Amino acid sequence: MEINTLINQHKLKFDEFYKKFLNKQLNNSLLAKAMRYSSINGGKRIRSFLVSQSSKMVNLSSENAMIICASIESIHAYSLIHDDLPSMDDDDFRRGKASNHKKFGEATAILAGDALHDLAFQLISENLKNIDPKRNLKLINYLTNCTGHNGLAGGQSLDLLYENKKLSKNKIIEMYNKKTGKLFEFSFAAPFIMMNENINRIKFSKNYGSVFGTIFQITDDILDEINSFKEIGKTPGKDKSQGKRTLLSVLGKIKAINYCEKLAEDFERKYKKEFSRYPDLKKLLYYNIEKLK
Ligand code: IPE
Ligand code: IPE
Ligand code: MG
Ligand code: MG
Ligand code: MG
Repeated sequence: MEINTLINQHKLKFDEFYKKFLNKQLNNSLLAKAMRYSSINGGKRIRSFLVSQSSKMVNLSSENAMIICASIESIHAYSLIHDDLPSMDDDDFRRGKASNHKKFGEATAILAGDALHDLAFQLISENLKNIDPKRNLKLINYLTNCTGHNGLAGGQSLDLLYENKKLSKNKIIEMYNKKTGKLFEFSFAAPFIMMNENINRIKFSKNYGSVFGTIFQITDDILDEINSFKEIGKTPGKDKSQGKRTLLSVLGKIKAINYCEKLAEDFERKYKKEFSRYPDLKKLLYYNIEKLK
C-alpha cells in the first residue's frame, strides 16, 4: 500500500481515539478548551504513525500503541503552542487556524502547553496494559530524557539562541537532533522498549527515529521557504524573516536535500537486514525527501 494511504488511515483511526480519550479526561474549563483546541482535529500525526509502524515490527498491542501515540501527540501539541508564543517564534497561525495564544491569550496558552505536557505523563503512567511496572518506569524516564533539557526543550533553547548567528552545519544538526529528533526517536523506539527487544534492536529503533526526525526538520525548513500558507497552515517564509539558522540557510536547498539523502542511504546500508524484513521502513524513511521532489 502507498505510504500516504497508510498515513491517512492511521490519522483517521488515531484522531477518533484521541478525541474520545481527551473528552473523557477533560472538563469544560477554559484551560481544557485551549488544550482541546491545539490537540484534537489537526496535524499530520506523523510521530504517532511511526509508533504504529514500529509497533507492528514488535507485535505491541494496538491498545497500548494508541496510548503511546496519545502521549506523544500531547507533548507535540504542547511544544507547538509554546513554539508559537510571541517570546519564541511569534507565529499567529498553526494548522491553518489562529495559534493558541491568538485565540485564548498568552497566559492560557502557556498553561495549556504545560497541562498538555503533564497530561502526556499522566497517560503513559496510568493507562498501559500488561506492562511490568519497572519497564513502564524505564519508558517514562526515557520520555523525560527526550523532552527535557537534553531533548526537545534543550533544542528549542538552542534554536532561539542561534537566531542571526553564524553557525557550523554540525551545530545546526545537533540542535535539530534535540528539538525534533528526540521526540521522533522516542516515537519509533518506545514499542521496542516496551516489548523488551534486545539492545541492538533498541539501538536500531532509536537511530531510525532520530534520522527520520532530522530529515523531517530539514524538510520542514525547506517547505517553510517554498510552500504557501494553504499548504503548511502556518506563516510561510518565517524562518528567513526571523533570522533562523537552518541547514537550508547554511547549505542551500540542493545540498540540504543531498545531506538528507546521504543520511538515509547510510542508515539503510547499516541496517540492511531490518530493511529487507520490513519494506515499508524504506518508503517511510524517504517519505519526506520525496515531498521535496
Ligand atoms: C511541526 O511538526 C514542528 C516541527 C518539528 C517541524 P509537524 O509538521 O509534525 O506538525 P503537525 O502536527 O503536522 O501540525
Ligand atoms: C519546531 O520547529 C520544533 C518544535 C520542537 C516545536 P519549527 O519552529 O520550525 O516548527 P514550525 O515550523 O513552527 O512548525
Ligand atoms: Mg521554532
Ligand atoms: Mg516555529
Ligand atoms: Mg518550521
